[in-house]
Amino acid sequence: MKEIKIAPSILSADFLHLEDEIKKIEEAKASFIHFDVMDGSFVPNISFGLVVLKSVSKVASIKIDSHLMIVNPMKYYKEFYNLGSYNVTVHVETVTLEEFKEIAKFAKENNKSVGITLNPETSIETIIPYLEYASIVLVMSVKPGFGGQSFIENSLEKIVFLNKFKDVHKLNYKIEVDGGINNLTSKSCIDCGADILVAGSYVFSSNNYIEKIKELKHGNL
Ligand code: DX5
Ligand code: ZN
Repeated sequence: MKEIKIAPSILSADFLHLEDEIKKIEEAKASFIHFDVMDGSFVPNISFGLVVLKSVSKVASIKIDSHLMIVNPMKYYKEFYNLGSYNVTVHVETVTLEEFKEIAKFAKENNKSVGITLNPETSIETIIPYLEYASIVLVMSVKPGFGGQSFIENSLEKIVFLNKFKDVHKLNYKIEVDGGINNLTSKSCIDCGADILVAGSYVFSSNNYIEKIKELKHGNL
């Protein structure tokens, strides 16, 4: 059985104790720190950016997975890598195929990973040309912008599609799912073929990260 990786989104962490929060998810065997960057334009919320990334990188021992919800990722992606992201995921709504190829080339040259994602209302066909260049394909299972929303059920069809597409075309991307992940939705995503699950509020609103991350990996049955 393949190992499911968990990427807690620090959007829901306690920012007054961010270093402790990071240590706690590392102890709980999270695989990535999911770093949600919001610019108040691409999404109706503002979160954090490069300055915070620099501090997080200093204390993190696991890889940082940056999710850029910003209108101009081409202007910033190199800095997101250079300041410590292992993976940078950009939205298909914000980059042309040529631009994505440029990010993928930079990632490859620097032994890093690159992700492509799409809003829930964007059709899955839109990302097909991007798939062969992606290390990660992120399925947004909520409208980006806020933590704590409910999982959009038809995201499961996208996961199934991406899983089949990967097999048929012999591609290597991992399938990551972001938004509304809890002990029940995690199980459905895993059954449909997800490899990495992002979880914000489910992990950080609990007082036992070890238990929550275990539940997400194996299902709470
Ligand atoms: C939404 C972000 C998500 C979000 C997940 O825009 O991309 O990463 O923080 O939060 P939960 O797990 O609370 O839905
Ligand atoms: Zn995210």
